[in-house]
Amino acid sequence: MSLLPHILVLAAGKGKRMRSELPKVLHEVLFQPMIHHVLDLAYSLPQASVSIIVGHGGEEVQEACRDYSGAQFFEQREQRGTADAVKSSQIFLQKQQGHVLILSGDVILLRKSSIEMLLKTHETEKAVCSLVTTHLENPTGYGRVLRDAKGSVRGIREEADSSSLEKKITEINAGIYCFEIASLFDALSKISNQNRQGEFYLTDVIEVLVRENKKVVGAVFADSEETLGINDRVALSQAERVLQKRVNQFHMENGVTLRGGENIWIDTRTEIEADVTIETGGRIQRSKIGKKTVVEANSRIQFSTLHSGVKIKQGSVIEESVIGDKTTVGPYAHLRPGSVLGVEVKIGNFVEVKKSVFKDGAKASHLSYIGDAEIGKAVNLGCGFITCNYDGVNKHKTIIEEGCFIGSDSQIIAPLTLGARSYVASGTTVTKSAPPESLVMARVKQITKPGYAKRFLKNNE
Ligand code: UD1
Ligand code: CA
Repeated sequence: MSLLPHILVLAAGKGKRMRSELPKVLHEVLFQPMIHHVLDLAYSLPQASVSIIVGHGGEEVQEACRDYSGAQFFEQREQRGTADAVKSSQIFLQKQQGHVLILSGDVILLRKSSIEMLLKTHETEKAVCSLVTTHLENPTGYGRVLRDAKGSVRGIREEADSSSLEKKITEINAGIYCFEIASLFDALSKISNQNRQGEFYLTDVIEVLVRENKKVVGAVFADSEETLGINDRVALSQAERVLQKRVNQFHMENGVTLRGGENIWIDTRTEIEADVTIETGGRIQRSKIGKKTVVEANSRIQFSTLHSGVKIKQGSVIEESVIGDKTTVGPYAHLRPGSVLGVEVKIGNFVEVKKSVFKDGAKASHLSYIGDAEIGKAVNLGCGFITCNYDGVNKHKTIIEEGCFIGSDSQIIAPLTLGARSYVASGTTVTKSAPPESLVMARVKQITKPGYAKRFLKNNE
């Protein structure tokens, strides 16, 4: 394809129908602001530039898009309609040659192949404007496509301005267009806001172009799912379902088993290898999951890497962590950011790990908190072990060298280092470092008074 369009994303509107303080395009669909999905599409296409029109919550929107390098922002101060939004980029775009592809920040389900088709049509038909349309059973809320007797597009009528007869038209405008730049701005200078909403409609330029005998082409999309515009939270939920299905299908086709897929939510940036199983309630964001890993029900994994043969048992939460081959986590465990687990590590039920390294074969099987620690190879942390890492001001480090055995219900008051192969007796509060192969024991001496309990009860009868 030789067409190298400039891309313009309209994202300045408030999105009144969302009834939200958050700008509409920042509402999340599969863990990402909806505008990300539009920008992912834009960046996947051959393009000369990408521009975003911001306005309502402009700074927040700009901040949310900072990872898209090279995108430029134009501010639409007052939201006076989609035509006015496009005009905000006029000074830049008018200096450019060629064509502009206009995308809408709230139309997120378009497929790359469909847009390529639109651009191809635009090019082969030598059109001045090509617009995406589709047929909807219920077209309420969308602009309707008006065609003449020969079937050529002659304009678009917004829902608010349409007659009862026009409302019956089922072909709708998807809000996605390709324009020849010079003709677009020429037509934009000729429209008014004399309509029910008092807005400058981008859709009005179609009629202007047709009147001037410029070529306007309607590209009818067969799959109306793609053109869904997210105007309210009902549509948001619909769009999320569609995207979820697409993502899940992609992974299943790649050899991933999803049990109860309608309740599994995986974002578009997660990579999963073959023979992975994910159970119902799984929510996975920006992660990499290696082959033969199992993620049991109701677990959340985000910004993490799981190597192969990992087992995440039911109800666990994994955040910004790395998990080595054949390691087991959970049930009901929590890896907080910065946890790095080696090979065949075991993190058992109700264990919380934060910013800590577990070397190969280390274990914390039950009811523990391990923070800011380095746990050596094959260390066994007994039930109820706790690192006391925080003094209310600073965090301190615990180092437990390889082969240590830490008895149940022990605490380590950091900072300290336990030398390799040391033993800590159950119930010990460790306050000082110890050299390798030590026994560390700190317990109150036991007092036993035989028969005391019996006498005590009797005296209190
Ligand atoms: C628009 C179209 C309608 C089409 C529908 C498809 C117009 C006048 N109508 O209606 O024909 O069927 O999309 O989804 O274009 N925006 C701005 N600045 C503004 C107003 C809007 O940047 O002043 C942005 C919004 O943030 C949004 C996009 O433009 O991303 C579309 O605006 P929206 O208000 O959702 O238009 P619709 O009523 O859906
Ligand atoms: Ca819309």
